Amino acid sequence: MSTVDLDKIVSLCKRRGFIFQSSEIYGGLGSAWDYGPLGVEYKNNVKRLWWRDNVHLRDDMVGLDAAISMHPKVWEASGHVASFSDPFTGCLSCGRYYRADHLNEAIWNSKWFESLKRRLANEKDAVAALEKWAAGDGKKLAPNLALVQRPDVVLALWKTHRANYRFVQSEFGELLDGIARTPDGTPHNPCPNCGGQMSEPRPASLMLETFLGPVRETATKTYLRPETAQGIFVNFDNVLQSSRKKLPFGIAQIGKAFRNEITPGNFTFRTREFEQMEIEFFVVPGTDEEWHQKWVDARFAWYQNYGIRKENIRLREHEQDELAFYAKRCVDVEYLFPMGWSELEGIANRTDYDLKQHSRFSGRTLEYFDEETKQKVVPYVIEPSAGADRSALAFLVDAYREEQVRGEKRVVLRFHPELAPTKIAVLPLLKKNSKIVEAATRICHGLRKHWVTVYDDTASIGRLYRRQDEVGTPFCVTVDVQTVGDENKPPDDEVTIRDRDSMEQIRVPIDRLEAVMMDLMAGRWAKAYSESPKQPVAGASA
Ligand code: GAP
Repeated sequence: MSTVDLDKIVSLCKRRGFIFQSSEIYGGLGSAWDYGPLGVEYKNNVKRLWWRDNVHLRDDMVGLDAAISMHPKVWEASGHVASFSDPFTGCLSCGRYYRADHLNEAIWNSKWFESLKRRLANEKDAVAALEKWAAGDGKKLAPNLALVQRPDVVLALWKTHRANYRFVQSEFGELLDGIARTPDGTPHNPCPNCGGQMSEPRPASLMLETFLGPVRETATKTYLRPETAQGIFVNFDNVLQSSRKKLPFGIAQIGKAFRNEITPGNFTFRTREFEQMEIEFFVVPGTDEEWHQKWVDARFAWYQNYGIRKENIRLREHEQDELAFYAKRCVDVEYLFPMGWSELEGIANRTDYDLKQHSRFSGRTLEYFDEETKQKVVPYVIEPSAGADRSALAFLVDAYREEQVRGEKRVVLRFHPELAPTKIAVLPLLKKNSKIVEAATRICHGLRKHWVTVYDDTASIGRLYRRQDEVGTPFCVTVDVQTVGDENKPPDDEVTIRDRDSMEQIRVPIDRLEAVMMDLMAGRWAKAYSESPKQPVAGASA
């Protein structure tokens, strides 16, 4: 399990202006989040790096920005209208909905089941434990559970058959069967919220309908796109003709997608409005398996290049029965989020399904003519499909550390410098010394031309460092009396640079500051530290 507590991340994000709940002053919308001043910089960095590495640094990729609203036939051709759904189940007592395929997980993590597990673990006699729990915590936490409502009837069975029962995780199902029963004795799934009886699962469409036009009756009914991918497929020929790309080549797109998720939650992990970063990579059929593996390797490495620790990321091959009917293979990149291992990105071999479907529905040929072989082919497609919000959440969780520094807790986001929302903070040591303030302001404006730089003089230097640590600013530049001189000493025209991670400090001439920063942003602190005087700023605590 991850050691990071999601509540701490949510609280830091709100306190420091990374992420706020949508429409909070109206009570909030649980399924959407707003990125604040630091959050928008941070998420933009995630998207910029993805775009740079997958589009600008490759010869075989181009970009696209398609509209969110698309012709309704797109969604018929893609199969979304007919089958883009998740199974849901609702509680017959409290009315809460859950994804049927996530129900066991929700029960296992529910408050009432946690408390029941604790009770069973602490008591030798399982039947006595169930009885006491039903009369105490069960009443408060799961009032509609059969065990709580009809303890005598439910426990009669346990008393005769399972007096020596010890709970083990593998018998989770059996335990539920024993404590959640209809009056005629049939076992049912209990509600994670109140213990009540859940309905039979039914499919719920994830498509969010919308109407284009002023009068509902004559308006065009379409959908907010549930994925950015289809915007790429329908533009395949436009891009091919205008860019004259040869196979293999890919089209990348970053944009909003919308899904009417049954159970949004876990902060920005699952929302109804989110951003995707998708690539459709078109290849000659027959080379698809090789390209698929190349993309799996490249995407797995990408997250680690920007700081995700290797013990927190893994690949998961989809089982045959999980695969969409048109997919040949799919591999998920999973991250160890605070709630457990979950999908960060899916990399699928979608074969020629999408291009063929759009060809069939639109009547337009979506083929590639190979000049060399003089043959037409419908390319196969490899699709690395990532979430911008999920990636941002994973990088943030991975960067979060609580450390002890000289007996005090330091919270630090150890972001890769390219991801950090603010790259440099310029801190004047004495805000009443006009020479220091003037020099610090000048330095700040100079650095801003290259990096996102802030100026802060609103607290003591130790506190300012902590504030910057907490938002992941990799470097602080401190201007002090030595820099500007006083009646006793001439200025040395040097500043102190403090490294967020090691908290080490070096002294650097102002006229070399930009060159040194260039090096530091490229990850060369150790070199700079070994070559520079390590003169700490007077009065500045690390
Ligand atoms: N075109 C393929 C596709 O959309 P997907 O696995 O459904 O595949 C791709 O979605 C990625 O989009 C996921 O790995 C995840 O990062 C992100 N994503 C999907 N649904 C999401 C949601 N409700 N909230 C946040 N991110 C989501």
